[in-house]
Amino acid sequence: MSESYAKRAAELDAADELASVRARFVLDDVVYLDGNSLGALPRSVPGRVEDVVRRQWGSLRIRSWDESGWWTAPERIGDRIAPLVGAAAGQTVVGDSTSVNLFKALVGAVRLAGEGRDEILVDATTFPTDGYIAASAARLTGCTLRPVAPDEVPGAVGPRTAVVLLNHVDYRTGRLYDLPSLTAAVHAAGALVVWDLCHSAGALPVGLDEHGVDLAVGCTYKYLNGGPGSPAFLYIRRDLQARFDSPLPGWNSHADPFGMTPDFSPAPGALRGRVGTPDILSMLALEAALEVWDDVSVSAVRAKSLALTDFFLECVAAYVPQGAVESVTPSAHADRGSQVALRCQGADAVMRSLIERGVVGDFRAPDVLRFGFTPLYVGFGDVERAARVLAEVLAGEPAGAPV
Ligand SMILES: Cc1ncc(COP(=O)(O)O)c(C=O)c1O
Repeated sequence: MSESYAKRAAELDAADELASVRARFVLDDVVYLDGNSLGALPRSVPGRVEDVVRRQWGSLRIRSWDESGWWTAPERIGDRIAPLVGAAAGQTVVGDSTSVNLFKALVGAVRLAGEGRDEILVDATTFPTDGYIAASAARLTGCTLRPVAPDEVPGAVGPRTAVVLLNHVDYRTGRLYDLPSLTAAVHAAGALVVWDLCHSAGALPVGLDEHGVDLAVGCTYKYLNGGPGSPAFLYIRRDLQARFDSPLPGWNSHADPFGMTPDFSPAPGALRGRVGTPDILSMLALEAALEVWDDVSVSAVRAKSLALTDFFLECVAAYVPQGAVESVTPSAHADRGSQVALRCQGADAVMRSLIERGVVGDFRAPDVLRFGFTPLYVGFGDVERAARVLAEVLAGEPAGAPV
């Protein structure tokens, strides 16, 4: 049976218009399905980091803030990410972690919402950091915090809601939420929405401008391959920028940073989302990593992502004994991000065995195997092998035995 799926995989790989992009990454014969946690290393990065360290820092030293474009890197790299999330230039800045940007966005949104709105709704299934930050933002702003399942937001948002924080793709199940309709529902109640794009930026079309999203944040170390701890991004819709009052005003978000004045006067535009000195080494590694996207469209990535996850589900259904795993990822394309999450008994140990056999995904408590599919470097042959090795592990077969 596996021959026919292997043959299909070879045909799909031969027809894959993104197949050649894999060569832009440093990879080996491991099937790497953890790009939804840490993206692989683009080949353009090591040389750039070497140049930034040795020449820009080592030789030019302080001159690089100007001559190597260090000072303007947050907005320049923000503008490079912008088209990947459907934003026009001038609305996105890079810097700090996702958590810190969530804090800026949430408190900023409560301040934008104004008088009489004293409630924050947060995705009840959210990645934990979002929930912690939302709770603290609520305490600081005197708001109440209400966890709500994303599907129930339209019925829960009301005249007292200041802001709703939602995840575009659920980190555990891989479920994709309907950004256009949820954004419209929040706006219909007069509230603002903050979207966490960690699991969608670089994986599927987002359409921030098209759908009138207010604020958004996302990390760059997953599908954007920026490297461990690479800086996050913050999107502030253009028409909100003049009123965006950051809870973290630093000298980098000052209109005249070198004026060194005691009073704070915010910079115009998205720049007011900056805080302090940017982490240049990580930021410029990210800038090099983004070159991978120069001739790649998000729509092509999305089409391949759905084909990969479809094929994985199909191979798993064919190879794995019925009932051994249960997919918690929606089967409808409209509801699926770029990962497949399978529940199974002993998931932790199963994932350790998979990794020993060269198939790298990850485990999320209590019983979920996560497999992330980065279309830039994952092929259909990888998918078939991953499903085959999973079946071997679940059947308790020794490594390398035929399915
Ligand atoms: C949805 C989501 N939000 C936030 C984070 C993490 O934020 P930070 O970059 O601050 O670690 C993650 C990390 O995996 C995530 O999946």
